[in-house]
Amino acid sequence: MAETKDVAELTADEARSELKRLATLIARADQAYHSEDAPQITDAEYDRLKRRNAAIEVRFADLKRSDSPSDRVGARPSEGFAKVAHAMRMMSLGNAFEASEVEDFVASVRKYLGLDATADLAFTAEPKIDGLSLSLRYEDGLLVQAATRGDGTLGENVTANAQTIGDIPTRIEGAPAVLEVRGEVYMSHPDFAALNARQAEQKAKTFANPRNAAAGSLRQLDPAITRARPLRFFAYAWGDLSAPLADTQMGAIERLQALGFTINPLTRLCRDAPEMLAHYHDIEARRAQLGYDIDGVVYKVDDLALQRRLGFRSTTPRWAIAHKFPAELAWTRLEAIEIQVGRTGALSPVARLAPVTVGGVVVSNATLHNEDYIAGRDAKGGEIRGGKDIRIGDWVQVYRAGDVIPKLADVDLSRRPPDAVAYRFPDRCPQCDSTALREEGDAIRRCTGGVICPAQAVEKLKHFVSRAAFDIDGLGTRQIEQLYRDGWISEPADIFQLRARFGAGVQQLKNREGWGEKSAAKLFQAIDARRRIALGRLIFALGIRHVGEVASNMLARHYGDWPSFQKAVTEAGDRSGEAWETLIGIDGIGSVMATSLVTAFAQSAERASIDRLVAHLEVETAAAPDTANSPVAGKTVVFTGTLERMTRAEAKARAEALGAKVSGSVSARTDILVAGPGAGSKAKKAAELGIQTLDEDGWLALIEDA
Ligand code: IVH
Repeated sequence: MAETKDVAELTADEARSELKRLATLIARADQAYHSEDAPQITDAEYDRLKRRNAAIEVRFADLKRSDSPSDRVGARPSEGFAKVAHAMRMMSLGNAFEASEVEDFVASVRKYLGLDATADLAFTAEPKIDGLSLSLRYEDGLLVQAATRGDGTLGENVTANAQTIGDIPTRIEGAPAVLEVRGEVYMSHPDFAALNARQAEQKAKTFANPRNAAAGSLRQLDPAITRARPLRFFAYAWGDLSAPLADTQMGAIERLQALGFTINPLTRLCRDAPEMLAHYHDIEARRAQLGYDIDGVVYKVDDLALQRRLGFRSTTPRWAIAHKFPAELAWTRLEAIEIQVGRTGALSPVARLAPVTVGGVVVSNATLHNEDYIAGRDAKGGEIRGGKDIRIGDWVQVYRAGDVIPKLADVDLSRRPPDAVAYRFPDRCPQCDSTALREEGDAIRRCTGGVICPAQAVEKLKHFVSRAAFDIDGLGTRQIEQLYRDGWISEPADIFQLRARFGAGVQQLKNREGWGEKSAAKLFQAIDARRRIALGRLIFALGIRHVGEVASNMLARHYGDWPSFQKAVTEAGDRSGEAWETLIGIDGIGSVMATSLVTAFAQSAERASIDRLVAHLEVETAAAPDTANSPVAGKTVVFTGTLERMTRAEAKARAEALGAKVSGSVSARTDILVAGPGAGSKAKKAAELGIQTLDEDGWLALIEDA
């Protein structure tokens, strides 16, 4: 039956009838809820139906019904927003802070493209709006979906709310059949001030800054509230498209304007770095008069064919960069230094500050990095802040750059209290009293307590349930701390035994502070939903030092399934031999990360804990969607000689994006040699080994349609 099938497995016919069934069920539930005051299904079941409906609509966009439940507003107060998958990932931007970094960016683009200094290379420059990004999907000119950025892959469906924003047309004419418009939702300064005044008058929550106000207003479960909030929208990019908008960035933005979107009036075309920097200074000079918050200038390569060639790194485009304005600064007193213990045992000092406003936000904590930093030294023993150390009681200068944790810029020695003493960094863990060691060459001191350290255990659990890992709704920081403290969970595997351990358990959990019957049931459901998990998420969730989200996904793509992955990592434990060579040969996996990974799997306590966890899971095999049609997926390719239609970096990046492994030398394991003019010994060796050899055109023809 279609309704029991995974959305990913539905055929078009099944999807069509399933959408019909869901539309009927949801409409009936709405009716029962409103007019009959007798809900027939639970809120959780209702949400599940809505989510399933949205997921099918994302996969089969063309089957979406005109009476789609996703588009009906205010049917029932939802318990949260449905998640929607972005047809194209929403990326973030790399940052530059100095003019020299902008010049380096321009130079790196030229280098990647193989353009000499005389070739034309134009960039657009426009304000970076300090709001929240939104992706609007239009099909046949109708706004069918609005989604927040979320984690870039999955966002929240805020369609009903977006429809209330004046700058967002619900119908456009003359657009491609599929058009995703991306841009920023923001609130102007006067609107922000008026909203806060109104909120204060009604004794409701006020917002710290316009960005928070915009985010809080867009993410309202009741669209009527969003409608009453003065939100605006600037369009500056696009996602999925059925036909190109133009040949250039500027052309595309102008096309969006012609279609009825508001674009930023300070968008300019610049021919070189000096023009980009001049426009940056011009925007900076007007910043205070704009009437809305901006935090920098975004530069984008204008020629869209070049943008395509440049492509993306893991989360940022190579063809754009954000040039941030200098951070705002404020002076305040350092009241205490607190040591936090992270999931890998790192002791991180945090400054507790007398609260101070920096750039519209009240700051009371700042990072102090590590013990050298507090002492006024850098990693190499050189001086920072002219060698001034930081002491409790000092007046310190705080700054914020973007959303990151505030940092300290300086210390005012003239205001240092006479009794202030140099800070002594602890050599024992403040949580478990184990020795805290600092290894040679490491700036960080670490607790050696491992599994006995409660701080490490709790941080590991928090990481495990976090968004990019298992993403378990209802298990936040507070709940993890509570369940750990009460002895219900001490390692990830325990989470999956919660329901069983509680026995008739909802009762017990319910009696605990903060848990209602509904929230406990919801929690168990959220946990059950994650018994099936993607391999990349699982690897990332293990919280192994140095193994981040991007690397975890690469490992997953390489090994495909859990048994192969764990076998390979176990076999690589001796740090030599084929399994080890394969591991460090994976693009993006260095020897530091590989060592950390194999060490974790070689530790018996850690390994046993991982095995206990996996016993509760069904680990999905990692699909490699990008390389499904790739003729070179899994092949080892070597480039040699001069390439004329692309640079080496570009050739390598494209081959890797298609699932090939690029190697520097020819061996029996090489599958394809791409040889340009001037190829020498490598071409000879390849011929001897009988390896397929292509010229550049042959290679491009091979990968053309992939
Ligand atoms: S372009 C692929 N242009 O900045 C690049 N982003 O730090 C797409 N932002 O997530 C983004 N103003 O929310 C672009 N004029 C602008 C922007 C802008 C603000 C935000 C956007 C993005 C973030 C990246």
